[in-house]
Amino acid sequence: MIHNNKEVLDYWNKEDVESMYDKNLINSEIELILKRITRNSKILDAGCGEGEGTIIYSKIPGSAVHAVDFSETRLKKAAKRLRNKNNVILKQVDFLGKYELDTNYDFIVSQRFLINLMEWKLQKKVLADLMGMLKKGGKLLILEGSINGVKELNDFRKIYSLDPIPVKWHNLFFKDKELVNFMASKKFKLLEEDGLGEYFLLTRGIRPAFDSKLNWNSKFNKIAASNDIKLMLSLGSRFSRLKLWVFSK
Ligand SMILES: C[S@@+](CC[C@H](N)C(=O)[O-])C[C@H]1O[C@@H](n2cnc3c(N)ncnc32)[C@H](O)[C@@H]1O
Repeated sequence: MIHNNKEVLDYWNKEDVESMYDKNLINSEIELILKRITRNSKILDAGCGEGEGTIIYSKIPGSAVHAVDFSETRLKKAAKRLRNKNNVILKQVDFLGKYELDTNYDFIVSQRFLINLMEWKLQKKVLADLMGMLKKGGKLLILEGSINGVKELNDFRKIYSLDPIPVKWHNLFFKDKELVNFMASKKFKLLEEDGLGEYFLLTRGIRPAFDSKLNWNSKFNKIAASNDIKLMLSLGSRFSRLKLWVFSK
């Protein structure tokens, strides 16, 4: 069953929903994105949610950030978090509706936003729209769900007789090849692909074989998110349910 934009909006308008419960994971995502954004940049944070990434990107020296989302509840939470930030503009935008945004961004970030568009044709439309808002040479950083990563991780879990981790009802993950081929067909260049394979393999592949309790805050998970582990294992996008793709115009 294909869910529509209204159902997804209702979900994000719930007060008690969080955009990411695993804080080690969201911090690692932000780290992956942050190191690719240069100083003095104009940034669009598309589908900014509660602004957990936005606040960090706004601390990049010389940055000006436009953070947009279609959910009033998300924007209210973001406004609270960003209240002292005078280099951030928050705006209500539904990327599937009518809106106006600038067309000279240096960077556009989509952090688990595009996976909320529940059809590939809608994702393609918004991908092209976002590329149209970049200045020449600008970069689109998309940190989004990957079906290939889901499969690799679930295949690993299977060996330990662990059930597959499903994709949530309000998400449609990308097929890696389909995404990359579509962007290439529009002459957008893929510069990089990266991921958080070490974290996913350790916390979703190995740890549950020993301990079925979900504890995002455990010491094990904290270490799994560390830079030392990242460097030691260097899995990049392998086993990574979420991948970072960097495209340039
Ligand atoms: C998983 S959350 C991610 C939020 C934030 N980027 C983060 O990383 O914490 C997805 C966000 O996309 C927003 N969103 C979904 N569909 C949208 C649309 N059509 N237009 C604008 N925002 C949308 C939701 O309201 C939600 O805040």
